[in-house]
Amino acid sequence: MNLNGKVILISGATGGMGKEIVKLLSKERSKLALFARREEKLKEISDEINNNGTECIFKKGDVKNIDDIKNAVEFIHKSYGRIDIAILTAGVLVPNPIQTFDGSIIKNSMEINFMGDVYFIEHLLPIMKSQKSGTIAVTSTLPDRRGVPGWGAYGASKAALSWLMESLRAEAKQRYNINMITVKPGSVKTPMIEGYHRRGAIQADRAAELIIKGIKKEKKVIQFPLGQVLMIRSMDRLPVFAYDKIDIEKQKCDGYPVVEEK
Ligand SMILES: NC(=O)c1ccc[n+]([C@@H]2O[C@H](COP(=O)([O-])OP(=O)(O)OC[C@H]3O[C@@H](n4cnc5c(N)ncnc54)[C@H](OP(=O)(O)O)[C@@H]3O)[C@@H](O)[C@H]2O)c1
Repeated sequence: MNLNGKVILISGATGGMGKEIVKLLSKERSKLALFARREEKLKEISDEINNNGTECIFKKGDVKNIDDIKNAVEFIHKSYGRIDIAILTAGVLVPNPIQTFDGSIIKNSMEINFMGDVYFIEHLLPIMKSQKSGTIAVTSTLPDRRGVPGWGAYGASKAALSWLMESLRAEAKQRYNINMITVKPGSVKTPMIEGYHRRGAIQADRAAELIIKGIKKEKKVIQFPLGQVLMIRSMDRLPVFAYDKIDIEKQKCDGYPVVEEK
């Protein structure tokens, strides 16, 4: 797929991976539309892109708010006349320790990481259906098949997202020529994992490169880096009794908060 002239919406455009994706797309001469909560950051990034000769607009919003998403999609569609690709990266990573088990953390993670993308898909599908083409790429996570101690809120929201995408993928393509892509990154050095030590984490610009390359190739699933893919997918095959013997603290990772019982 050639990205030149394509209208591309990027959510989470102020973040580690989102910002690098925007930078790379500006070199492809795509028409960009950015979405996130921090308006000054959006303006700063957008001004830089426009100054370099690539069209870029932005809309501030919170993915927890369906009206913000509706307004952003309408604004972008009105401005450019179409939306070819959406790369949805907005997300949060919040630990949920068993010692202080708290449903509100899980609700918040589901609202941002899962429902945020659901709202985008809901508002993008009618546009892409009428165009009879489009690509929606969401960002799940590499360990999306088995639970990880301490990270249930995050994992559950991403597993739900992977499941939803897999449910939509074949039908979206066959009925409407819409590509549904699930991006499953391993560890990537971004503000999200600052404070946690993740062995083998790759740089955000490299992750952005792999995501764009995968979208151009119209891959259905984009997962990286290879070493972590091999490790996680072989862990997926372990029987339950063996999986439960993996060291809990190692799975939580260095930097996981130390908590007292409630
Ligand atoms: N980094 C990793 O190792 C890793 C691994 C696997 C998957 N992922 C996934 O990859 C995606 C990008 O992660 P990243 O590492 O680039 O994260 P990041 O640097 O923390 O950036 C997160 C982005 O999401 C936006 N965002 C957060 N909450 C939002 C909300 N309620 N409404 C609108 N925008 C919101 C932030 O912008 P504002 O603050 O301006 O709103 C920011 O642009 C996420 O979905 C993450 O779960 C990351």
